Amino acid sequence: MTRYALTPPNWPPGFHLRLGVVADLHAGEPHMGTDRVRRVVAAANALRPDVMLFLGDLNASHRFLSRRFWPGETAALLADLRAPLGTYAILGNHDWWEDEAAQQANRGPTEAHGALERNGIPVLENTGRRLVKDGRPFWLLGLGDQWAWWGGSVRRLHRGGVDDLPATLAVADDDAPAILMAHEPDIFPQVPSRIAVTLAGHTHGGQGRLFGWAPFTASKFGNRYAYGHVVEGDRHLIVSGGLGCSVAPVRFGAPPEIVLVELGQPGAG
Ligand SMILES: [Fe+2]
Repeated sequence: MTRYALTPPNWPPGFHLRLGVVADLHAGEPHMGTDRVRRVVAAANALRPDVMLFLGDLNASHRFLSRRFWPGETAALLADLRAPLGTYAILGNHDWWEDEAAQQANRGPTEAHGALERNGIPVLENTGRRLVKDGRPFWLLGLGDQWAWWGGSVRRLHRGGVDDLPATLAVADDDAPAILMAHEPDIFPQVPSRIAVTLAGHTHGGQGRLFGWAPFTASKFGNRYAYGHVVEGDRHLIVSGGLGCSVAPVRFGAPPEIVLVELGQPGAG
């Protein structure tokens, strides 16, 4: 469990909001099988967040798996996530890359998208929802995946995405504070201060870290957005290290985590 507490600039006084964050599950036998996913779900529920967020990458596809999971299997397990304001998701690059039909057609919706929604988890793909806690509104925005199109090789991992930041931001058409979910943190330099906090995953904290530094990261910015709470000017980014693995079932110095983000002051609202 990793907890961040912050009061972003212009956050409404007295408004306390708890966000549960599950990222990069990468389900698949034997390392992230059904029982372990159930334990992750129970642990996330025990944090008692106001709203639960899944930041993409349902399943693993590396070659060390004894059994791959279908999106529908994993989504059915995530259906047990519980929060008073509901659970919302965005998709990650693996949700796109493992969908051969979507890759060939060069368009969605992906199988993961449908599976999550059939299990009661709306997918926010360049859109958002206006939610209300204790009479106080806020926007929850989700960016389409920036790495959606598989590039075909390790030299060229992706050939672009389905992200539309202007369309996503345009959804928040009043003064209520806004939270942005983006699978890859690389969008952050383009995110305006209108967004109270950007939440990302994807990097797995580098998956391997030595003395707090990651030699390899799935980010064009290297270690700048590889992990944790990043503040640039008046803008906040939180990158979850996520739970699972890509490429190989190995993590070191970057333990799997569920994140709780507390915005505003507890007890004041
Ligand atoms: Fe990812």
